[in-house]
Amino acid sequence: MKTQEVALHINGIRYEISVGRKFGQIPPSETLAETLRGRFSLTGTKIACNEGACGCCTVIIDGSAVASCMVLTVDCDGKRITTIEGLTDPKTGALDPIQQAFIDYYAFQCGYCTPGIIMAGKALLDKNRHPTRAQIQDALSGNFCRCISHYHVIDAIEHIAHEEVSAS
Ligand code: FES
Ligand code: FES
Repeated sequence: MKTQEVALHINGIRYEISVGRKFGQIPPSETLAETLRGRFSLTGTKIACNEGACGCCTVIIDGSAVASCMVLTVDCDGKRITTIEGLTDPKTGALDPIQQAFIDYYAFQCGYCTPGIIMAGKALLDKNRHPTRAQIQDALSGNFCRCISHYHVIDAIEHIAHEEVSAS
């Protein structure tokens, strides 16, 4: 039987992995969240509910925010995946503006939900550079924060949207 290969583009790097049940292979039932954390040590992607309800595992796939616990890795062949680790400039280590804004606005407490919320916000800003507060709230409607940091989160993203408006 021919081995199925899956090509993943993760944070700008292309990986080829084989699908199967032997050691080192990815089983067909493995989720992208499990693959990112367990095989690539990209543990910034968090798993909480593991059923698509909390948004902690959100990554960007081909430009859209997606709950990676609800996606099978085998279905990501050829897709471009960005995780929270991929937002930092690889050469300078500089944070993405949205990461800096979360720090400036104290937009987290325990931080467990934070990577997923940042990735949802980043996907929104990449598509719509000047979202309204209502659009930000809508884009984050699938992300839950049990520490109730949502107001600070929305303020942080709104700050970026306004900064870009005043700079343009
Ligand atoms: S862990 Fe994926 S949505 Fe909650
Ligand atoms: S900061 Fe704790 S869950 Fe959001």
